[in-house]
Amino acid sequence: MASDTGAATRREQAIRAAVEAGLAGPEVPIIGLLDITGIRSGAAALRTAFEDVTPPGTPVLHAFAVKASPLVAVLRLLRDEGIGAEVASPGELALARAAGVRPEHTVLDSPAKTPAELREALALGIAVNADNPQELARIDALVASAPTASPLGLRVNPQIGGGSIGALSTATATSKFGIALRDEGARQWVVRAYLDRPWLNRLHTHSGSQGVPLALMAEGVRAAYELAEEVNAAAGRQQINTVDIGGGLPVNFSSDEETPTYADYARLLKATVPGLLDGRYGLVTEFGRSLLAKHGTILARVEYTKTSGGRPIAVTHAGVQVATRTVYAPASWPLRIAAYDSKGRPKTGPETFQDVAGPACFAGDLLAENRELPLLEQGDYAAVLDTGAYYFAHHYAYNSLARPGVFGFTADSEGTAFATVRTPQTLKEIVAESGGDHRDALL
Ligand SMILES: Cc1ncc(COP(=O)(O)O)c(C=O)c1O
Repeated sequence: MASDTGAATRREQAIRAAVEAGLAGPEVPIIGLLDITGIRSGAAALRTAFEDVTPPGTPVLHAFAVKASPLVAVLRLLRDEGIGAEVASPGELALARAAGVRPEHTVLDSPAKTPAELREALALGIAVNADNPQELARIDALVASAPTASPLGLRVNPQIGGGSIGALSTATATSKFGIALRDEGARQWVVRAYLDRPWLNRLHTHSGSQGVPLALMAEGVRAAYELAEEVNAAAGRQQINTVDIGGGLPVNFSSDEETPTYADYARLLKATVPGLLDGRYGLVTEFGRSLLAKHGTILARVEYTKTSGGRPIAVTHAGVQVATRTVYAPASWPLRIAAYDSKGRPKTGPETFQDVAGPACFAGDLLAENRELPLLEQGDYAAVLDTGAYYFAHHYAYNSLARPGVFGFTADSEGTAFATVRTPQTLKEIVAESGGDHRDALL
């Protein structure tokens, strides 16, 4: 039996092996790596955390937020771990279906669903959370026209306030998501909407992602639970049978420690909303970042080094195309960077303040400014850590830089094995996606 080693040890082993095997090198200067063991153990921790706070037999669907890692093999791996999919676009639904995620394990949640998307979801039996009254009216018409197995719900915004990153705070007073519950007349409207629709049996809330404190997330869930109780009391039956509590568990980007844990959050929910977890309600969760972030690494080669104004600069192949949020909003999205030599061995030696730059042609394309690291040299590698969610799987096509290949790995005392998750984008594909077939269109 192979012995499992810690996540950092597995990562070091995989980086070394990737360089030795030529997965990364002078001609392949950037790749994404995914730790299969880490992803599996994260999924197991999520399942256990909620099993520990609910009576046996409580239906709990963990639907991975596909937006966090829209890669078919990742969705397939999570499916193998009993995790479903939360999708927010036709593309994400297509990925979940390609991965074989079953309709009853799929939830559709986007704020701008077209009639065709809704019709498809209801025909497939996928759960749908309506974002607003106009969308609910569309669902009314569809429900009247054909029977559906889809669980149907409403998304509410408990308006409990935001976290430290405004762009990811979805429960602010004026958020674009869901029905703003504290607006005048909204609560009564929602209760009436349920009473008028016996088939409306779910309630959904998602208070935000990175930057929202756990206690605030739990407050959002409490608001949803209290509303569900009010609806069910008014209906005289358990009309709302499932509460979808969204995702949003924040990730620690400053060390290898996984904190807060799913168990921390589940225990907090148990203390804050015991009634939601007493077995009367089914639960849906929609975690994304917390399932993948710490299990992904970008490995980028240092193409050149130079100094400018006295500051050392390492020009690497990882920049805005794979770390868009960090490059455009560095204060909100700092990333750890680890230095490796040309053979993929951790660099030691005195730390020096330096910039770690990307390949794109604008001055702000920096992964880190004035970062203290062993001095990077030409041919070294910069590993950009905790990038398994919302980073290398989220290509931004600036400068027509190619989407890098992504490889899953296992690394233990018996060795390191890689599996291709996504092949690197070819120049032919870039030309085709840029309208190569329509060359003369504007003549
Ligand atoms: C409705 C919904 N659910 C789940 C998520 C996933 O959030 P996170 O990746 O922070 O867990 C998001 C993120 O935007 C979302 O909008």
